[in-house]
Amino acid sequence: MSDLKHVAIIMDGNGRWATNKKMPRTAGHYEGVKRVRDISLHANELGISCLTLYAFSTENWKRSGDEVNYIMSLPKIFFDSYLKELMENNIRVKMIGSMERLPEETRKVFESAIKTTENNTRMILNFAVNYGSRTEIVNAAKKFALDYQKNNDLVLDEQMFSEYLDTKGLPDIDLMIRTSGEQRISNFLLYQLAYAELVFTDVYWPDFKAPEFDKCLEEYYRRNRRFGAV
Ligand code: FPP
Repeated sequence: MSDLKHVAIIMDGNGRWATNKKMPRTAGHYEGVKRVRDISLHANELGISCLTLYAFSTENWKRSGDEVNYIMSLPKIFFDSYLKELMENNIRVKMIGSMERLPEETRKVFESAIKTTENNTRMILNFAVNYGSRTEIVNAAKKFALDYQKNNDLVLDEQMFSEYLDTKGLPDIDLMIRTSGEQRISNFLLYQLAYAELVFTDVYWPDFKAPEFDKCLEEYYRRNRRFGAV
């Protein structure tokens, strides 16, 4: 079993992968869905307890309508193809972000996968969809303020605050990987990444298979994690 509890990935580079191959950007997203399957099964095999994947950011709405529509159709493609394997491998699906703005069909597909897998106990496969970390933090502060109005005895600390975030109940993130050579956090899990190791790889997401994932884990284990202590 791995002592790595929670790995988060910014899946980046689908568009460039496709453009390099003179294919439409959507072809990169389609190939990327297969890597979601590969990396999920592999992480599960390794005994990682939670894998969070950034599938769609609140900023991604700025893309062309056609591309947004295509990305919104990916969850159906993914679950139609691989839900059976997720069940066989005891993987539980969860989601962070706001479901509200998602097309009805996309929302239903997620709700159904979350329900079908809710009793699975091995790895949590957590999709960040229409997710933005600042919004998540602001919403958490608003929710706390409402609870505080009802109960002035509440004493807010880091642990309590984390219970107001979308990631409530999930372990802290040990490792965050971003593919495609970009070295930014891009409004992803700002609170939860406080002590995470960050690993950036030049590989585009559609090429990011199990051996690439293993290289990122090796990098993680090479680093000395001290949490600020000497
Ligand atoms: C980033 O590449 C990728 C996305 C915005 C979409 C990622 C989504 C998936 C891989 C599939 C999600 C699957 C499920 C099941 C929800 P980019 O388009 O930003 O690439 P670029 O930076 O090269 O343009």
